[in-house]
Amino acid sequence: MALRTAGSVLLVFLWSVTVVLGQNVWSVTYTKKSICALKGSTVELHCSYTYPSGTVTTTLWFTESGTGKEPKDLGQDPEYAGRLECHGDQKNCHTLRITDLRESDSAEYKFRLLTDQTGGKYIGSPGVTLSVTDVVLEMDPTSVSERENVTLICRTKCTLDPITAYSWYKNGQPIPNSNTSSPVYSLFSVSSEDTGRYSCAVEGHEDLPSAEETLTVTYGPRNTSVSVSPSGEIMEGSSVTLTCSSESNPPVDKYTWYKKNVTSPKASGQSYSITNIISEDRGEYYCEAENTIASNNSTALMIIIAEKQTSVLTAAVGIIVVVLGVILASCLSGFMWFRKKASKSTFDTRHTADDGQGDSSAVYVNISGMAMTPAAAQTVATFDQEQDEDVQPTVEQAAEEDPSVLYSTVNKPRTKKT
Ligand SMILES: *[C@@H]1O[C@H](CO)[C@@H](O)[C@H](O)[C@H]1NC(C)=O
Ligand SMILES: *[C@@H]1O[C@H](CO)[C@@H](O)[C@H](O)[C@H]1NC(C)=O
Ligand SMILES: *[C@@H]1O[C@H](CO)[C@@H](O)[C@H](O)[C@H]1NC(C)=O
Ligand SMILES: *[C@@H]1O[C@H](CO)[C@@H](O)[C@H](O)[C@H]1NC(C)=O
Ligand SMILES: *[C@@H]1O[C@H](CO)[C@@H](O)[C@H](O)[C@H]1NC(C)=O
Ligand SMILES: *[C@@H]1O[C@H](CO)[C@@H](O)[C@H](O)[C@H]1NC(C)=O
Repeated sequence: MALRTAGSVLLVFLWSVTVVLGQNVWSVTYTKKSICALKGSTVELHCSYTYPSGTVTTTLWFTESGTGKEPKDLGQDPEYAGRLECHGDQKNCHTLRITDLRESDSAEYKFRLLTDQTGGKYIGSPGVTLSVTDVVLEMDPTSVSERENVTLICRTKCTLDPITAYSWYKNGQPIPNSNTSSPVYSLFSVSSEDTGRYSCAVEGHEDLPSAEETLTVTYGPRNTSVSVSPSGEIMEGSSVTLTCSSESNPPVDKYTWYKKNVTSPKASGQSYSITNIISEDRGEYYCEAENTIASNNSTALMIIIAEKQTSVLTAAVGIIVVVLGVILASCLSGFMWFRKKASKSTFDTRHTADDGQGDSSAVYVNISGMAMTPAAAQTVATFDQEQDEDVQPTVEQAAEEDPSVLYSTVNKPRTKKT
């Protein structure tokens, strides 16, 4: 080892001596035989040369030595316009600086010199091999489920020298404490927060980071919840819309609605509308959100239905109107003649206030006769359903929950009539 080192020193020494002594030989010595540089960066090609005699008239760098063709000075090449700087004096460009490197600059660069002597021209060959590379972030995989691992690799096509560290970025910001000495960076057990655009850079070239690569973290629905609209007290006969919301990636593709203690699903779709609420609709509702990863159920939302007090009030208002009508009619014509007519009007008015239906005297008669038993209430419900769907829930509810409600609705007008 020591011997080899000593030998090298000796060789260098002898070569130096040759240079000093031997101005009579052609030589071009490049400081680096190959250079790997980043796209967009600046590189310097440097050489030293000797020549036999005379004076140097021209020096130039070129990349192609066409057979028989005169090498073309890079300085004349429009591809390099504005990107070349020579260091040395005007005639002696022995350091060539190329800025804003392009991948197309990758080539073998040679130095040529001409002297004023006959046949005084020389090309230093082989030249300098320049490789221009960009930084590429490889991500594997790019779409991943939560809790899995992702590997990022920062690659260049050639080996930049020297690279001692890599830095890593997410959404354009450095990832704290992420510098690595190897080109590999791992994300262990990713979560949705790891979703983002990643890039990397090599030390000293942080201004030339790789293109961004996007990591997508997929996960099943969560934070599934039910909201109700309109909020506040839910009256019988009114309508509400339940909406299921959930966070997931990819988005939820299926919503299913359930009511507790009811095995079969009530509905599907993100929103579930319950129209003409009846007391049977009371209960706990929840939704199931499902995407390609998993499904998740919301917590249940209790729906309480307020009984429809307004029907009694409406009836009362109807009664008052009828009373006034009766009084007016009585004044205009004979009281006895109008009494019978007025009873029918009483019913009609009430019913109109309730549901807008007309000729309902038959219904009324039925109710009058049977309203004392739950079975009768059931009959009424059935009948009303045929008549007008809008009224049906109210009556049916009353029948099942509390027959007295039905009586209050139905009997009031009769009470008035008598
Ligand atoms: C993620 O990496 C850790 C540590 O190397 C390993 O224990 C775990 O099994 C990996 N998880 C998966 C899903 O590959
Ligand atoms: C990480 O690398 C960047 C860029 O090279 C540097 O500015 C920073 O100081 C480094 N951080 C650590 C902790 O080494
Ligand atoms: C699913 O929903 C329940 C609440 O119903 C919740 O406690 C649970 O954490 C959810 N599961 C997932 C994987 O998000
Ligand atoms: C969603 O659930 C997560 C836990 O799974 C919780 O940390 C987060 O605060 C919830 N977000 C909302 C908007 O409720
Ligand atoms: C569902 O059924 C269980 C058991 O039968 C009962 O304890 C619970 O109160 C019921 N829940 C509802 C909302 O009806
Ligand atoms: C959600 O509820 C439905 C109906 O009760 C049930 O079949 C399903 O397994 C539940 N899903 C989850 C993830 O718990």
